[in-house]
Amino acid sequence: MKKKQTRQEPSSQKRASAPGIKRDHGHKPASHAKPAGQKAQRPAAREEARPQASPVAETRPLIVRKGELPIERVPVILESKGAGDFHLIDSGAGLKLEQYGPYRVVRPEAQALWQPSLPSHVWDNADAIFTGDTDEDGMGRWRFPKAALGETWPLSLLDVDFLGRFTAFRHVGVFPEQIVHWSWVKEQAEKADRPIKVLNLFGYTGVASLVAAAAGAEVTHVDASKKAIGWARENQTLARLDRAPIRWICEDAMKFILREERRGNRYDIILADPPKFGRGPNGEVFHLFEQLPLMLDVCREILSPKSIGLVLTAYSIRASFYSIHELMRETMRGAGGVVESGELVIREAGLDGKTPGRALSTSLFSRWVRK
Ligand SMILES: C[S@@+](CC[C@H](N)C(=O)[O-])C[C@H]1O[C@@H](n2cnc3c(N)ncnc32)[C@H](O)[C@@H]1O
Repeated sequence: MKKKQTRQEPSSQKRASAPGIKRDHGHKPASHAKPAGQKAQRPAAREEARPQASPVAETRPLIVRKGELPIERVPVILESKGAGDFHLIDSGAGLKLEQYGPYRVVRPEAQALWQPSLPSHVWDNADAIFTGDTDEDGMGRWRFPKAALGETWPLSLLDVDFLGRFTAFRHVGVFPEQIVHWSWVKEQAEKADRPIKVLNLFGYTGVASLVAAAAGAEVTHVDASKKAIGWARENQTLARLDRAPIRWICEDAMKFILREERRGNRYDIILADPPKFGRGPNGEVFHLFEQLPLMLDVCREILSPKSIGLVLTAYSIRASFYSIHELMRETMRGAGGVVESGELVIREAGLDGKTPGRALSTSLFSRWVRK
């Protein structure tokens, strides 16, 4: 049951809450634009320097939420061991070595602070190596040491066929760490007694949309990049899902969900994988740190009465606790003891210093302790 209707300007969200009013606006920072395209051909929505002028972003006041907070389970580590044609072979020295179908691919990986486990001849034998800007989404180029490779190649994940793709921004047309979310969506769609409605925001090359559709969902896929939508449609054909109920929508995600809210259209599952900064097809600016509260607010409103979930992925964290955790463990090999790692958070304590509120994440930690 919804108990709310008061609306509040986004800017006032930072001010102190009125006593008794709890808000459940999640706000997790994020980064990473991961569109595609070779060299100069960037998708319209790619993360790049903030533009000088842009249309005013559509907005509405935030809704002041009342009622109990959802129960929390933290920390939850969703771990992917790979699936289908993908697995991570090794990592270290700022790089990762991955298997994508027939190809072994080396890409920069800032989190890999430790040394590789496998000998250098294994790494040297890679089929494709991305070099260039070490910035997360920087430009660079692919090198194919063994033989020149085409731009695309067939891949399969969770029984869905699609194309891997060497893009100018180190991406390969799929974000395999998302498999855990996709498996979850697949499971929900398969066990539902009706075709569930899935909204895939910032859907990129559409693998999540195809997995959901293959499991029987009715899918609405939204992305600002015409090129990415084109690739997603290509993938749809490759996946033999041409007849599946998928709406491909090239639009600014915020604009789209605000319209869906006004129209009363609802979804059972919403997936959102926003970049830190992106642009809609008409230059609409999406800035995660400014728009995430409203984006989630609107997403909540367009969840159906029997909704199943709202899944947000955020990539802006430059390091994860696993990075320092593995480094610590490697460093302390043979010393016995235990390595504990996670995040340091400060719990809000209210005016009286005794009223526990939300947890504010401040930093990551890893500690080795002699037992
Ligand atoms: C983070 S990727 C999504 C990856 C995808 N969910 C997956 O796992 O394969 C970001 C995508 O957001 C799109 N995008 C960026 N800004 C956008 C906006 N304002 N509205 C809609 N899509 C946008 C980009 O074109 C890109 O395809």
